[in-house]
Amino acid sequence: MKGEVALRTHGNASSKYERHVLVCGGTGCTSSGSPKIIEELEKQFADKGLTDKVQIVKTGCFGLCERGPIMIVYPEGSFYSRVKVEEIPRIVDEHLIGGSPVKEFLYEETVVGDEIKSLDDTSFYKKQHRVALRNCGVINPENINEYIGRDGYEALGKVLTTMTPEDVIQTILDSGLRGRGGGGFPTGMKWKLARNIVPNADQKYVCCNADEGDPGAFMDRSVLEGDPHVVLEAMAIAGYAIGATQGYIYVRAEYPIAVERLNIAIKQARENGMLGKNIFGTDFCFDIDLRLGAGAFVCGEETALMTSIEGNRGEPRPRPPFPAEKGLFQKPTILNNVETYANIPQIILNGAQWFASMGTEKSKGTKVFALGGKIKNTGLVEVPMGTTLREVIEEIGGGIPNGKKFKAAQTGGPSGGCIDPSNFDIPIDYDNLIGIGSMMGSGGLIVMDEDNCMVDIAKFFLEFTVDESCGKCTPCRIGTKRMWEILDKITKGKGTLEDLDKLEELAYHIKANSLCGLGQTAPNPVLSTLRCFRDEYIAHVVDKKCPAGVCKDLLSFEIEKDKCIGCGMCAKQCPASAITRTDYIAPGKKLAAMEIDKTKCVKCGACIATCKFKAIIKK
Ligand SMILES: Cc1cc2nc3c(=O)[nH]c(=O)nc-3n(C[C@H](O)[C@H](O)[C@H](O)COP(=O)(O)O)c2cc1C
Ligand code: SF4
Ligand code: SF4
Ligand code: SF4
Ligand code: FES
Repeated sequence: MKGEVALRTHGNASSKYERHVLVCGGTGCTSSGSPKIIEELEKQFADKGLTDKVQIVKTGCFGLCERGPIMIVYPEGSFYSRVKVEEIPRIVDEHLIGGSPVKEFLYEETVVGDEIKSLDDTSFYKKQHRVALRNCGVINPENINEYIGRDGYEALGKVLTTMTPEDVIQTILDSGLRGRGGGGFPTGMKWKLARNIVPNADQKYVCCNADEGDPGAFMDRSVLEGDPHVVLEAMAIAGYAIGATQGYIYVRAEYPIAVERLNIAIKQARENGMLGKNIFGTDFCFDIDLRLGAGAFVCGEETALMTSIEGNRGEPRPRPPFPAEKGLFQKPTILNNVETYANIPQIILNGAQWFASMGTEKSKGTKVFALGGKIKNTGLVEVPMGTTLREVIEEIGGGIPNGKKFKAAQTGGPSGGCIDPSNFDIPIDYDNLIGIGSMMGSGGLIVMDEDNCMVDIAKFFLEFTVDESCGKCTPCRIGTKRMWEILDKITKGKGTLEDLDKLEELAYHIKANSLCGLGQTAPNPVLSTLRCFRDEYIAHVVDKKCPAGVCKDLLSFEIEKDKCIGCGMCAKQCPASAITRTDYIAPGKKLAAMEIDKTKCVKCGACIATCKFKAIIKK
């Protein structure tokens, strides 16, 4: 089996199958129709006698989610994107039976004249380097043998048979790996503390944070969907390193595919002796259970997460004591993020130096980003730390669609901030992002163009925190609400210059006095937009204008009568019956122009979208 999977991407000389058809079964492609593609392939294979010749493999995310459903055929590596069920019979006949890829259905960047280029040469993949995502889109996550076929569980075997717990911790320390859940705390240091701080603890725990509540982020979900065993293996390694026998994965229930694949993986790992008693015939015993989170953002905070696993309401508690000393059930505990774990087996197998050779001086390795917003190639990318925002957005992401101008990128979700174009060429790493007033966060990267209003964006993130605040402490519970009210006032044209000062004062107070990271970082999107886009706030407050044309209360819609041909299409679309005909006939036109009654208009924008003659303007 190991050979079969290893051969899949490299040619199939000794494979028992002539070809492998990999279809993305990640959440994105599942919702854009990949189950129907698999169904049709199975039907065609049965009809055309291919079942024993071509293997269908349902994988995790390939990264280029915007192009889903995605399908790749090996050994050629032909990359079919936005696959339609109707295209399957031709792909089966011409490619799987006839041996010639159907060029017109391939991802266009892979077709150059008569040649078919490798996927690795396309702009989306060229600069990527997959460590945490190395198995996503390559293996069937529901089959442990496919994971083993890609060196899976070898690192655990190596650790248990040739390394002491101290060796493991030293390797992780030397690698320079820092937590990918947002804070960037050195993982080896965390493990070392948990091993040594209470030397005689009767019980310790290893937890995995798969809560991933940041708006726009789906990195952890994709790792769990595409490669669940990597997390199980890493947690077992962590268990050995700190002296724990039990692990918990805290995963949000809104991730049903991830939960299902984790359940399958845990069962298979137990059946194959990779979890449970005496793993690999050693004295080491370790098991993992799932705990489902109900989808509260604050439950991603480490102390709240542990309180929730204990069966209580997920509220943060003060630190110290830190979890390494008193964590889950008051026992020494480590908690790491999914992506942090996904790096561990490769570090053990390839060595600390291999990992430390990637990235920047203080941020080693790679980072997975969920690219979203106003960008051509939305999806999942993994790049070496130190790659610039420009490379990620313009080269990998394909730039901003519809010829619009880049305005800002938001990293770190509600805890982060906006980066303006002046910092486009800064290498992305933990410290650089903090230096420019944003932060890495877990890896959501939302791109904004000239049509985004930065005041509105700040309000959006603050609304999220107001909703998600657990309410335990006053600065966060009341302060964020007051900040939101001021922003709301500004977007409605009722703000004053004093409000901007009040916003800043409140922001610093909330940051300094909140109990947990949620409150301590909640004001960041406001502070960073105030710093980088202050003129936009001023325009709302002083000129009562929204330069991006987003804040409805500051907009008015008007028809330029000389451009209007009087076709009446806009009036048909208007839900408020606000558009009526005038007596005026523009020179050279046959019908009278229309006009908008501003007292009736609800500013929905339907008329602008309808008018082919660009006669309607938003002011
Ligand atoms: C409000 C809040 C939400 C968080 N949500 C997550 C999350 O969804 N996933 C995550 O890994 N870390 C999250 N964190 C960070 C965790 O508390 C913790 O630092 C992290 O899981 C540690 O793992 P790491 O060292 O591997 O990054 C959150 C922190 C705060 C304050
Ligand atoms: S800062 Fe906010 S989320 Fe954190 S404990 Fe206080 S009220 Fe709860
Ligand atoms: S759709 Fe445009 S051209 Fe037609 S009536 Fe409306 S404003 Fe005039
Ligand atoms: S913005 Fe909406 S409500 Fe206003 S005139 Fe246009 S279609 Fe009618
Ligand atoms: S979900 Fe299919 S490519 Fe991302």
